[in-house]
Amino acid sequence: MHVLAFVNQKGGCGKTTAAVNLAGTLASARAGGARVLLVDLDPQGHATLACGRAPGPGGSLLDVLRGSATIPDAWLEAPGDLKLLPAGPELAEFEDDAVRSLEPERRLRDALEPLRGQLDWVLLDCPPRVDGVLTANALAAADTSVLVVETSAFALQGAVRARELLVDSPWEFDLRVLATLFDPRTRIAREVLVALHARFGPRLFETAIRSHARLREAAARGLPVEVLSPRSRAAADFRALTGEVSALLRPDAGPRALVPGATPAGGPRRGPASTGRRGSVIP
Ligand SMILES: Nc1ncnc2c1ncn2[C@@H]1O[C@H](COP(=O)(O)OP(=O)(O)OP(=O)(O)O)[C@@H](O)[C@H]1O
Ligand SMILES: [Mg+2]
Repeated sequence: MHVLAFVNQKGGCGKTTAAVNLAGTLASARAGGARVLLVDLDPQGHATLACGRAPGPGGSLLDVLRGSATIPDAWLEAPGDLKLLPAGPELAEFEDDAVRSLEPERRLRDALEPLRGQLDWVLLDCPPRVDGVLTANALAAADTSVLVVETSAFALQGAVRARELLVDSPWEFDLRVLATLFDPRTRIAREVLVALHARFGPRLFETAIRSHARLREAAARGLPVEVLSPRSRAAADFRALTGEVSALLRPDAGPRALVPGATPAGGPRRGPASTGRRGSVIP
């Protein structure tokens, strides 16, 4: 079982889209039909909605964090052969609970432990903050934290700050960076991608998720794009990412340890993305 958390303090950068659609692709028969659990850690409940579901009588992530339900009590079947641990606005109550609890940030990690033999992948969709007890639960449980970065102006500054906050967290995980909402026709997006390569080197996934209207449509219909439109370019992006993510399970799959304070080596590797100039997007 490998646990991936999708994080960034910036809102709207594509965390939920990445988590839901990567989950759908990992679980698809075409990619080998892995056993995948998607966990919604955001009181906005967007991952739950993007699967067309709502918390059921078995409860939600809040019940799991409070210890009144197990994960299998509360999980739901979701489109694309996914298991979904849903959330809704009530999840925000856990912020208050946490003040009175001992080690509240370890709850999810502990609840996942008995499922080790039953799941291949657990994908955690975080709220738009890097502090807070919900994201802390994700970081504590994660083998890999994926910093999701929209390829737009000022994104790199935000990503560098988010990385600092993640490195300062007491949890140990592998850190990766995923570029999203990439529009190769715009200079700013190409510059940001080059800058991300320069800053994060081999920690940046080779696959950048491009901007696709089909991903918005899939969310609106409550389906992963692999289910809605498996032949689309959007689905192809997520299959490419699935290939890279699957390599995380191999011990020789690139950088592993997160070294606080280290600047990853490496530079731009993707020819078409290179603009040959460095602009103000590079802090
Ligand atoms: N690659 C993409 N192409 C087109 N639209 C996208 C893409 N990624 C995300 N979107 C759209 O952008 C909006 C924000 O995406 P998403 O909800 O995934 O971001 P988020 O980081 O999870 O936001 P929040 O911080 O509020 O949780 C949504 O409407 C989503 O459908
Ligand atoms: Mg989200």
